[in-house]
Amino acid sequence: MSSTNAPAPAASAKPLPTASAQDFPTDFVWGVATSAFQIEGAHDADGKGPSIWDTFCRQPGTIADGSNGDVACEHYARWESDLDLIRDLGVDAYRFSVSWPRVRPTGDGEWNEAGLAFYERLVDGLLARGMKPYLTLNHWDLPQALQDLGGWGHRATVDRFVEYAIGIAKRLGHKVASVATHNEPWVVAQLGHETGIFAPGLKDRRLAAQVSHHLLLSHGLAVTAMRALNLPASLGIVLNMAPMYPATDSDADRARARLEDGKLRRWYMDPLFKGRYPQDVLDFLGDDAPHVEPGDMAKIQVPIDFLGINYYSRGMVSADDSFDPKQSGLELTDMGWEVYPQGLTDLLVSVHRDYPDARRLYVTENGGAFPDPVGADGRVHDADRTRYLDTHIAAVGEAIRQGVPMAGYMVWSLMDNFEWASGYEKRFGIVHVDYVTQRRTPKDSALAYRDFVLARRATRQG
Ligand code: FCB
Repeated sequence: MSSTNAPAPAASAKPLPTASAQDFPTDFVWGVATSAFQIEGAHDADGKGPSIWDTFCRQPGTIADGSNGDVACEHYARWESDLDLIRDLGVDAYRFSVSWPRVRPTGDGEWNEAGLAFYERLVDGLLARGMKPYLTLNHWDLPQALQDLGGWGHRATVDRFVEYAIGIAKRLGHKVASVATHNEPWVVAQLGHETGIFAPGLKDRRLAAQVSHHLLLSHGLAVTAMRALNLPASLGIVLNMAPMYPATDSDADRARARLEDGKLRRWYMDPLFKGRYPQDVLDFLGDDAPHVEPGDMAKIQVPIDFLGINYYSRGMVSADDSFDPKQSGLELTDMGWEVYPQGLTDLLVSVHRDYPDARRLYVTENGGAFPDPVGADGRVHDADRTRYLDTHIAAVGEAIRQGVPMAGYMVWSLMDNFEWASGYEKRFGIVHVDYVTQRRTPKDSALAYRDFVLARRATRQG
């Protein structure tokens, strides 16, 4: 890793021991993922407009460590050496997002050439290093100016998003491998508009339901508009999911688990693949169900080329909300999330069973936050994360053995970064970032992942 300022990697990093390289198809894509707001910094550089996350971070009490994304990992300035770092991991693909307010500062009107040029350099830099760019349009950083007009609750934002998608597709769609419309619309709707713990920090269940509908509608319309451009990039969406298990076999727990699965997974998957919202969740929402105009559902249910799934942990559901992960006996990550690789197999198998039209599945995010002290030797011996990745990759291999059409796997995250409401306190990277010096140090998990991917490549060629 001569191109980074990291110490030379240990010569004999152990490859991930459980995951077997043989389980994966030869064209399986191995990658690492980030998002714009979490790494770029340069919050007002070169004409960038403010996003709702810039605003949200400035409200007292929203971010655990009182931090913001102003500087983050300085990726906007350090993108070239960061691309070298990714190349040195040996991966096939890099999943990143475009900051909407960097390329169109108010979400309407003038485009910002400096912002567009940044992403063009990034994409060209990936291609020059032999990696596939996987682009996400909306990883949550809506232009603040659009929020001021009503944000995702306002139907006109759908049109602004479609314009944004077309603008990016025209500029980069002939170079990138894939374009995802949204990352985790559930988070935007739920955490942004119902619980209010994420930007824009609103607490209104009815609004949240309407936001989810506008996100889905904007996805469908953007896919249709981008499809008309006849670009080589594959088009899709990324959803967060967790298999929901009833905590006991009681009817009440099973019913509640079914509802939670409906709110998280079927609420998005049914419109995308079946053209309707699930009736049980509509009943649950009652008067708070979204306003849907005639024709909307058909606009949402347009064919997509891939579905990205982000998986971190399982959901254990009890009707009285009494389940406590601390008592489950499972290892917990620094986020307090249970480590449960079997859940990933169960999830992928069930998605394939329930939605056979989703023909190309990616795990677009998977990983864990762990405390990660830097050792006396200057390295990060993150055996916990290495084990997490190993067992979850093995879980993907098991899903493939069970017939699930998996196309790729991407680690969240390339490097430690701004973890939303947790600020910089939670580290998800396989590369450690010292936020004082901006020094990047590949952790043991990065070296293990690299060796696994390289072994995979040897199998591919052999
Ligand atoms: C996902 C987000 C990603 C990151 C991980 C830990 O919900 O898509 O940006 O924060 O969680």
